Amino acid sequence: MSDDLLECRSLTRRFGALAAVNDLSLSVRRGEIFGISGPNGAGKTTLFNLLSGHVRPTSGSIRFEGREIAGMASHRICHLGIARTFQLPLVFGSGTVAENAMVGAYFGKRPGVAGLTFGADAEARVDDALRMTGLSARRDVEAAQLPVFDKKRLMVASALATQPTILMLDEPVGGLNHREVDEFVALIRTLRETGLTIMLIEHVMRALMPLSDRVMIMHHGEKLAEGAPDEIRANPEVIRVYLGREAGAA
Ligand SMILES: Nc1ncnc2c1ncn2[C@@H]1O[C@H](COP(=O)(O)OP(=O)(O)OP(=O)(O)O)[C@@H](O)[C@H]1O
Ligand SMILES: [Mg+2]
Repeated sequence: MSDDLLECRSLTRRFGALAAVNDLSLSVRRGEIFGISGPNGAGKTTLFNLLSGHVRPTSGSIRFEGREIAGMASHRICHLGIARTFQLPLVFGSGTVAENAMVGAYFGKRPGVAGLTFGADAEARVDDALRMTGLSARRDVEAAQLPVFDKKRLMVASALATQPTILMLDEPVGGLNHREVDEFVALIRTLRETGLTIMLIEHVMRALMPLSDRVMIMHHGEKLAEGAPDEIRANPEVIRVYLGREAGAA
């Protein structure tokens, strides 16, 4: 079996005259942390929206475990094993922490039969997801009452409860303080150790560089550079377009 879990070829999404993602090709290997960064408006979130089925591609192909998924509905993509978090904390404010995670357990990957996942299996998924993200003690708290750090962890818990093969995190540490960033970095490391493949969009270099096996820098919807973190840090084009301005922002 190929080590490539996810492969995009010539992926393009236009919004009117703007190509938010433009003829982009990339592969993500099974078990790696694939980091993504680049200036504001580069197309990073649009790439996630294409992969998760929240936005349909204008053209191009997305293969996940060898199957074409470009243009598939988001719930079907989720069932296949792709889960994501959002750039702005998104939780169901009227529910508790456990109820939020339960939504992921119900609608996520299924054990191969039609119908939703109910009962003991869903409960076990929720327990595991809350334990992994450090939220077990807060399971009965209203999600709306949580601080940003916990809302971000809860988005990860809901995604984990779908039992994904690949987890896409959109700026998970944006807006967090240094101590919280370090805790999130440790959490992401733990998740990878469980065998998850992770795609990580992040501006905060302090989190992105030590976590990523490979980093792709996007600019104007295209791939500006891709390589090991040290190569990316030293790449003159990346420094000119992005890191020169953003370095030290972490
Ligand atoms: N639904 C949409 N309709 C029109 N334009 C859009 C839409 N979604 C994104 N865009 C545009 O596509 C471009 C890429 O946006 P995107 O959110 O993917 O960037 P990003 O790299 O995630 O930026 P940031 O670092 O600020 O999060 C931007 O110019 C944005 O305004
Ligand atoms: Mg974004």
